Amino acid sequence: MERRGEGSATLGVGTGYGKAILIGEHFVVHGARGIALGIPKKTTVRVGKAESLRFLFECGDMLKEATRRILKRVAGNTDYEVSVESELQPSAGMGWSASYSVALARAAGKAAGKELTRKEAADAAFEGEKVFHGNPSGIDNTLAAFGGVMLFEKGREAEPLKVGGRFYFVIANSGKKGTTKELVDKVSSLKSSEPTLFGEMMGEEDGLVDGAVTALGEGDAEKLGGLMNENHALLAEMGLSTPIIEEIRKVALENGALGAKITGAGGGGCVLILAPEEGKAKGIAKKLARYSAFEFTVGE
Ligand code: MEV
Repeated sequence: MERRGEGSATLGVGTGYGKAILIGEHFVVHGARGIALGIPKKTTVRVGKAESLRFLFECGDMLKEATRRILKRVAGNTDYEVSVESELQPSAGMGWSASYSVALARAAGKAAGKELTRKEAADAAFEGEKVFHGNPSGIDNTLAAFGGVMLFEKGREAEPLKVGGRFYFVIANSGKKGTTKELVDKVSSLKSSEPTLFGEMMGEEDGLVDGAVTALGEGDAEKLGGLMNENHALLAEMGLSTPIIEEIRKVALENGALGAKITGAGGGGCVLILAPEEGKAKGIAKKLARYSAFEFTVGE
């Protein structure tokens, strides 16, 4: 999927970030607030002129359809050849599809002679996300376009959050997950069959978001880690965890992590871990090397 072939001259290049959801995946689809982080891994898309749409990498029908919609919206036609390189693994919960869609929107914009604002890139990418995920909240494409640390709520302008300290994160990949669409549908079915329970969980999640906004602002990693664990418990209760995710959490927590949770749709995919300091983050990443663990920091 990452191969770049020989093509015509590049007319536009664009990039999009990967993301990790700190609090609120799935609940954001149903209107709750959530917090997400841009991660320092990106996808780069190049577009060149072609007689008709041509892909210089292997891809499925959904990606082709998402590409058509974004090109049409941004450039007015689909007569381009498209290539991609990414530092992110697809289907791992780090927002590959959103980073591709944002990168494509920016590349198409440049090819058509316009520089998209971050909001315009996020909005165009949302067209792609609808193809990939059916009923996306918009959190992934927002983070892919803006990066940073954002408070997100469907239908509202996302808000950059104050971060009052340095937070040491690790991401480990538990392996293959189901499609985001299937996992979102699973949670929607739970909402329909258990509306009272789901409503209570939404309320709990909302409290976690308030706590996390404060913890981020005050640089309080211990508090933030505890809130991540509580968020994980809610996601696990909805059947979104797996034995490998639980194994990764156990290793992380036994090695000094303050919190560890599913990030993204779950059912596999990545675990977001918060360490108290750099040395511990490095130690945890080393222990989880077979899960392609990597570290990054957020804040000052
Ligand atoms: C996927 O990264 C996050 C979900 O909440 C879906 C969405 O918000 O569109 C599971």
